[in-house]
Amino acid sequence: MSKADTQDQAKMERIVSLCKRRGFIFPSSEIYGGTGSVWDYGPLGVLLKNNVKAAWWRSVVQQRDDMVGLDAAILMHPRVWDASGHVSGFSDPLVDCLACKQRFRATDVEGDRCPACGGELTQARPFNLMFKTLMGPVEDEAAVTYLRPETCQGIFVNFKNVLISSRKKPPFGIAQIGKSFRNEITTGNFTFRSREFEQFEIEYFVPPEQADQWFDYWLQERLRWYTDLGVSTENLRLRAHREEELAHYASRCSDIEYRFPFGWSELEGVANRQDFDLRRHQEHSGRDLAYFDEAQKRSYLPHVIEPSGGVDRTVLALLVDAYQEIPGGRGAAGAEVESVLRLDAGLAPIKAAVLPLVRRDGMPERARAIYDELKRQWFVDYDEGGSIGRRYRRQDEIGTPFGITVDSQTMQDGTVTVRDRDTMEQVRVSADKLVEFLRDKLGEC
Ligand code: GAP
Repeated sequence: MSKADTQDQAKMERIVSLCKRRGFIFPSSEIYGGTGSVWDYGPLGVLLKNNVKAAWWRSVVQQRDDMVGLDAAILMHPRVWDASGHVSGFSDPLVDCLACKQRFRATDVEGDRCPACGGELTQARPFNLMFKTLMGPVEDEAAVTYLRPETCQGIFVNFKNVLISSRKKPPFGIAQIGKSFRNEITTGNFTFRSREFEQFEIEYFVPPEQADQWFDYWLQERLRWYTDLGVSTENLRLRAHREEELAHYASRCSDIEYRFPFGWSELEGVANRQDFDLRRHQEHSGRDLAYFDEAQKRSYLPHVIEPSGGVDRTVLALLVDAYQEIPGGRGAAGAEVESVLRLDAGLAPIKAAVLPLVRRDGMPERARAIYDELKRQWFVDYDEGGSIGRRYRRQDEIGTPFGITVDSQTMQDGTVTVRDRDTMEQVRVSADKLVEFLRDKLGEC
């Protein structure tokens, strides 16, 4: 491993440690030793994740005329997964070690000896990644169904319902955020490849002849969404799939990749799924899923452009991108390394912290009153423990964009200091103008 790789790995470990220490992300069921590649979002993590989902929803549903939302159930009719091709084809080729019993993706192993113990490996066998479960009171084959491995099938099977009820016409899209489940074999890299994760998916239905132009449009649009959230452009890139990489349903696919400390990896895929899914569901269900275009007097199965992203991967990319270490610290001389999360203010879990300079002279009471007013609008924090420098550092580490300090001048003229997390500049603002001040800075969040 090169020196740069070792440094990147160490940085990743410090980010994972910060996530646990400060309540962003915990290993699931940790007191029982954890559940492999399943993660829980703590008090700050759930706020950050909700903000990411809200930003996506606002951008692709609320602010567009050609998109509607959906929240389909995780459990679906088992025949959905026959029609989609998942029962027969959603598998990884795996090999088992006869000696140590470990299992590997065949593509990750070189030669025919176990990478863990050198033992003999079995032939590669397909291993389906769907979680099987039983639905209803009888435990037999007919009761078998699956936890969905992607959210989009809920969109395809509801295509006609949405078309009729929303009175939309192609080109238009259906957007959804929800949990998906995959029994991943190659896991690791923190939340990047989890067994339970959240996707945000758009299925954008277009006349067949417009598919290419909408593919290009969505690829640029989705890339822009990440840069608008503050992700650095030099850490983002597009990568077109090679012919042999394409999924069975796609004629074209490009990934939006982020440069994680463990290398360039996929954040989101934009695919041209053609009419594969609607055609298959039409065949398997016997229902007509075609759209009749009144103006052109023609009936057709729309083609689908699918921007499909991961909420957890976006949260991870945002954390990595925002994380900065400042050797020697920014405040008091001689401080150890300080870490700052330079999250976009709209995404930050806590928007402002209200801090009385000292715990006397009426300052805590005044600060609490300000806190009570602000918390009606935003998630804000109140902290009176420890030195002011230490309290600023705690907030910097969780990405709080503003520190509001109540000091002796507040008690005389009603102004407070507002400290900016990134520039550390402080301005005095009248306490009764704080809501206005913050609204101006925080925008639509
Ligand atoms: N409907 C198409 C689809 O599901 P995918 O490339 O398999 O395509 C789309 O998944 C996105 O879902 C990925 O770009 C990634 O962000 C996220 N994703 C997929 N598997 C994941 C996993 N095991 N853990 C976390 N996120 C995952």
